Amino acid sequence: MNFRIVPMTAEHLPRVAALEKICFPADPWSEALFRAALDNPAVAILLAQGEGGALLGYAVLSTVLDEGNLDNIAVARSARRQGVADALLSALTAFGREHLARLMLEVRLSNAPAIALYEKHGFIAVGRRKNYYDAPKEDAVLMTLSFL
Ligand SMILES: CC(C)(COP(=O)(O)OP(=O)(O)OC[C@H]1O[C@@H](n2cnc3c(N)ncnc32)[C@H](O)[C@@H]1OP(=O)(O)O)[C@@H](O)C(=O)NCCC(=O)NCCS
Repeated sequence: MNFRIVPMTAEHLPRVAALEKICFPADPWSEALFRAALDNPAVAILLAQGEGGALLGYAVLSTVLDEGNLDNIAVARSARRQGVADALLSALTAFGREHLARLMLEVRLSNAPAIALYEKHGFIAVGRRKNYYDAPKEDAVLMTLSFL
């Protein structure tokens, strides 16, 4: 599948918010939240665009000093298992290797595809946050990738 990784801009807001609703129906980020993230210079949002500019996926990285947090990553169901998340995460980890000391993230304990993705990119589990998620209630696994 052909796609390219591009920075998100305001014109992408409606499509990103729509994909977010599909991928995280219980507690999606609103369009306003994505807009605030876009306006925040400490946040980077990358998109994967397919033929004709179709939105295939996105990933959000926020930074505080030398630490990055992967806040969000999602790929449209029809585009999964074709390397889209791999490409998004590779771009963010390349940025992290250059500019940051480590990346952190939280992921649902039951989210095996995402945990496998993060482990493939070198993240290791370093802790748990009890009942971190709602609907359904579930622990988060805390993972980190150190560049030091
Ligand atoms: C997790 C998610 C982003 C993966 O996106 P994707 O584009 O399908 O992933 P890729 O095709 O790039 O796969 C990269 C790696 O992820 C892992 N992976 C992805 N989907 C997997 C699955 N269904 N089962 C097991 N491993 C999986 C594999 O390690 C894979 O590497 P491989 O192809 O060499 O085996 C996607 O399933 C998704 O959007 N899920 C819903 C949203 C979500 O849960 N986001 C994470 C929140 S923390």
